[in-house]
Amino acid sequence: MQRVESVKALRAQVKAWRQQGETIAFVPTMGNLHAGHLSLVAKARELADKVIVSIFVNPLQFDDKSDLSAYPRTLDADIEQLTSVVCDLVFTPTVEVMYPQGMDSHTKVVVPDMDDKLCGQNRPGHFDGVATVVSKLFNMVQADVAVFGDKDFQQLLLIKKLALDLNLAVEVIGGPTFREPNGLAMSSRNQYLTTEQFAQAASLYQVLSAVKAQLEQANTNYHQLESEAVSQLTEAGFVVDYVEIRRAQDLEIATKADHNLRILAAAQLGKARLIDNIACNLA
Ligand code: PAJ
Repeated sequence: MQRVESVKALRAQVKAWRQQGETIAFVPTMGNLHAGHLSLVAKARELADKVIVSIFVNPLQFDDKSDLSAYPRTLDADIEQLTSVVCDLVFTPTVEVMYPQGMDSHTKVVVPDMDDKLCGQNRPGHFDGVATVVSKLFNMVQADVAVFGDKDFQQLLLIKKLALDLNLAVEVIGGPTFREPNGLAMSSRNQYLTTEQFAQAASLYQVLSAVKAQLEQANTNYHQLESEAVSQLTEAGFVVDYVEIRRAQDLEIATKADHNLRILAAAQLGKARLIDNIACNLA
């Protein structure tokens, strides 16, 4: 596996592969890799000849600067993990490589209707930061296909909309959420949890699954299901940001006529802000 830090070296390698007729799959990450990330790399492997993974903790998407400084940076361990799966190139730019003119007057990519609801509501600028860095990475890597996790479902839809709206040639594909044995979705932020909180955190997935079971039994009182779920999570020790039943295709408020639903939640437990979501297809 090659490690590349400059855009010039990345472009030279991509060009060489292109000249040999190789296709390219791309998995952007912020590092601190776990089995969820590696499952996306394995999926990328099935979709193209060459796999590129980027590791960049993007300051532009952190609305909370203490969250940015605390974010776990484990580059050596990440590279070792990527060597164990089949990754051809890891791109590890510095902040100076990504934002050589600084970030204050940097061009921003804004994805309307997707950036201001759910996780966008309490994290101003977060999704603009994601859309901007992913646009830059897409332009640098020029992949045929890019793989993102269903775990960050709003982010996945935002990137799909970005690619569609800007006519990007890359195909954006989702990969399933990898979970701990207790059901908790794997996340770099799980390490902020104490052992006790880690056990408590399992209720996030359990509560979402219980809402799904109710929907499958034709309970269409979405509002009541959402508030019951909030109460259950609060009782389990979470400070809840939201639990919402939404239309899966665009995350708009679901009506009784909608069958393809997504149940999404964000909640704080101790020092960790946890998010999770599950599909619920009633068709
Ligand atoms: P990061 O949180 O490192 O996640 C990188 C990718 O891994 C994302 O597509 C995310 O959805 C996916 N992922 C995280 N946990 C997962 C799990 N348990 N199962 C499956 N996939 C999982 O998301 C970002 O980085 C950044 O916002 C980024 C897109 C790289 C832009 O900076």
